[in-house]
Amino acid sequence: MVLKIGHLQVEPPLILAPMADHTHAAFRELVAHFGGCGLFFTEMLNSRIVATQKLSTDPYLMRAKRDRPLAAQMAGRDPDRIARALERIRGCFEAYDLNMGCARGVVQRYRWGVWLMEDKGLAAEVVRRAREVVQGPLTVKVRSGVHQHDLKYLKDFCLMLEAEGVDAVLLHPRTGRERLKRPPRWEEIGAVKAALSIPVIGNGDVFGPEDALRMFAETDCDGVMIGRAALIRPWIFRDSAAALRGEEIPPPPDPLEVVEVFYTALRRYCPEELRVERLLDFCFWFLQNWPFALHYWREVRRAGGLERMVEKLKALLREAGPLRPYPVRPFMVK
Ligand SMILES: Cc1cc2nc3c(=O)[nH]c(=O)nc-3n(C[C@H](O)[C@H](O)[C@H](O)COP(=O)(O)O)c2cc1C
Repeated sequence: MVLKIGHLQVEPPLILAPMADHTHAAFRELVAHFGGCGLFFTEMLNSRIVATQKLSTDPYLMRAKRDRPLAAQMAGRDPDRIARALERIRGCFEAYDLNMGCARGVVQRYRWGVWLMEDKGLAAEVVRRAREVVQGPLTVKVRSGVHQHDLKYLKDFCLMLEAEGVDAVLLHPRTGRERLKRPPRWEEIGAVKAALSIPVIGNGDVFGPEDALRMFAETDCDGVMIGRAALIRPWIFRDSAAALRGEEIPPPPDPLEVVEVFYTALRRYCPEELRVERLLDFCFWFLQNWPFALHYWREVRRAGGLERMVEKLKALLREAGPLRPYPVRPFMVK
């Protein structure tokens, strides 16, 4: 199975989803340590900041050693500002993505992300300006829509993206209003795939290798993007790639090794003032490999200070017992 986004070969066709506060350089290095994925994504980048502020010290633009190929996801609403931001980071990443799928916090306030899907004319202008600036692979991440599932509108919207020169569409088939509630409608991935000539990448509730296989089989999509399950199990891409090859899923790594690799990466790729917060965000998901996740997470938080928190985390994991089996459906959400 070969996925090509523009000239970029994505092998295996398994993609780490963009996740604000989570898919930073240190986390991507952790994923890379356990075999990586076909394509990494940054957290969403704020076009206001990237268009105007100093880039060399921006932690959101930092790259790790092995997070390749990496797509930079841009969020905003103003076509000129988005184009300016993309221009300023031209050549720094292997691919670029426009966020028309996120429904969270700041994105909602400024009507970025999925709200661009309400205004097809404006969305087309955003893509046109971006396409003028980005010579390499350009993708757009979308949802089903803002308020309701309207498959005809969704297909028309994606056909517009294709006509404007986008190289692939990434679809999370829930509406903005649904956030992460209600099951994603994978059948919409199949319908969009059937309508488009460019690759379509499916996303939503892939919680293990079996789900990835099922998404390929049920939707005929060209690639699978994994979000929350990768935060819980950063080696899920290695396991899913094995399943795609028809091989046995390898045994999980030692959780203490996972913590050690992440802690090392955090000190290397994350500014000091962000480390505690990022460790806690990491723990919130990683600890969901065990039933007492919330209790453990509170214990880590209570330990206070980066070193003490890591020691506490390791002590808890030494006693934690085996990881729960796939699928790793999250039972705590943010
Ligand atoms: C903590 C968190 C942060 C997210 N941030 C972004 C983001 O910055 N940009 C975006 O397009 N989607 C964002 N998403 C949505 C994910 O990329 C993905 O579409 C969603 O989680 C569904 O995939 P999953 O079921 O594999 O988790 C975020 C999701 C989570 C849980």
